[in-house]
Amino acid sequence: MINPLKGMKDLTFDESQRFVHIITTASTIAKRYGYSYIETPLLEQTALFKRSVGESSDIVGKEMYQFIDKGKNDVCLRPEGTAGVVRAFVSAKLDRQPLKYKFYYYGPMFRYERPQKGRLREFHQFGCESFGEGSVYEDFTIISMIKDIFDALGIGYDIQINSLGCPACMPPYRDDLVAFLSNIKEELCDDCKRRIDTNPIRVLDCKNKSCQAKLTDSPKLLSQLCQECDSDFEKLKKLLDDADINYSIDTNLVRGLDYYSKSAFEFVSNEIGAQSAIAGGGRYDKLVEFLDGKPTPAVGYAIGIERIMELVTMPKVEREGIYLGAMSQEAIDMLFPIASRKRQEQKVTVEYAPKGLKAHLKSADRAGAKSIAIIGEDELKDGKIWVKDLETKEEKVITIKEF
Ligand code: HAM
Repeated sequence: MINPLKGMKDLTFDESQRFVHIITTASTIAKRYGYSYIETPLLEQTALFKRSVGESSDIVGKEMYQFIDKGKNDVCLRPEGTAGVVRAFVSAKLDRQPLKYKFYYYGPMFRYERPQKGRLREFHQFGCESFGEGSVYEDFTIISMIKDIFDALGIGYDIQINSLGCPACMPPYRDDLVAFLSNIKEELCDDCKRRIDTNPIRVLDCKNKSCQAKLTDSPKLLSQLCQECDSDFEKLKKLLDDADINYSIDTNLVRGLDYYSKSAFEFVSNEIGAQSAIAGGGRYDKLVEFLDGKPTPAVGYAIGIERIMELVTMPKVEREGIYLGAMSQEAIDMLFPIASRKRQEQKVTVEYAPKGLKAHLKSADRAGAKSIAIIGEDELKDGKIWVKDLETKEEKVITIKEF
């Protein structure tokens, strides 16, 4: 038997229903916020992710599904959605339009991580990217949208926010942080020792408890933000307060991707174990430029679908459509014209094998049908069909033409 690859899984029955419910709900809400659907390739040039997500990030450094294709191109399966959407935005020259563009997407992402609960090698994201809006109102609106989606799905969450500054205030802060970390280098884990040189900010969200304990007195970016970043962050907090959206500030929230500036946020759940981030995002005002577009402010997020799968409250499944059956082989053929007519307006299940009434009723129940229609021996003779509403229990025998 050929099994799926490690860290990859099939979604069937209950899970696929949940998947569809999540995508449908999130898409409906994203459309209400003015977003339109975008589809980008799963495979992109490796350079795209190196330049956007960042060479020193774990995603690019350790987790890429990267290979040389038959045309000798260095390509990789997308580890996340933002880079491809930004590339598509620039490819279509939308950066040259004085307009605002908002896109939503969903689909598989690939990261060669060590699989564990909540961490897959192929997982799915639902994401949104907004281009051309530099105002912090958009950061607030994006957070409100995620809140609306999780509320509609019946999912509980905590919101954590932080500011990652901008090219004016981040570099001096990084220098201070490097100076601080260099003094405690020997007490840090090997990964953090390496990160001091490659990506010092990432030391702040090291999962190692002993590293975290050493960081209590580390310099805090929030107290070193430039005036613009500071006033944007204050404004974001006020907007959230005014909207009664609860959040906490996490100065160690740095996100695992290098393209962020200013607002960064995560939604976390305390019901799913160690991999608790169910959505993450933030502002990335420099990325369009970085990918050869014109300077364009942008902000976005992505929800991890598998992580919220078991948290979703599914709507009650209503009985739906009609079950068609016959009691004799001869009558089976008569079901198909009826089925194709009825299918124009509702779900139709046709049973191909002749059966007794009891067996048909059982199958109709299993199919979740709202009504059952059977051509029995008598009906066959008279060109009629027996119909029963399985909810009201009302039954009637009518001509096939009338049905
Ligand atoms: P991210 O935080 O890397 O952000 O991923 C977003 C979400 O995807 C996470 O919060 C988590 O729920 C889910 N996720 C990540 N890795 C895995 C995994 N290995 N297995 C299962 N679920 C996972 C991004 O990807 C950014 N592109 C988000 C963004 C959009 N920022 C701006 N725009």
